[in-house]
Amino acid sequence: MKTIKVCVGSSCFLRGASEVIDLFQSLIDKHGQGKVKLAGMFCQEKCTKGVTVFVDEEIFSGVGREDVAKIFQKKFLDNKRGEEKEE
Ligand code: FES
Repeated sequence: MKTIKVCVGSSCFLRGASEVIDLFQSLIDKHGQGKVKLAGMFCQEKCTKGVTVFVDEEIFSGVGREDVAKIFQKKFLDNKRGEEKEE
């Protein structure tokens, strides 16, 4: 199971972490139930860049609501077509 972790530290929270979480949760409900786990995490010291998100070990900095679908598509939906193209 893959894990999406969204920073819920104060800076990321103020930059929209709760909305990012809601959008990821909607996508998981629609496409990834049982395959993707969503979790919060504390500050990752990337605060100047906006909301910080990890998908397993890969970090995405400065994530906004407009980036959520792109990340989900890249990390989960694109992989479905070619089956597991794990790094
Ligand atoms: S509050 Fe999110 S990286 Fe610091």
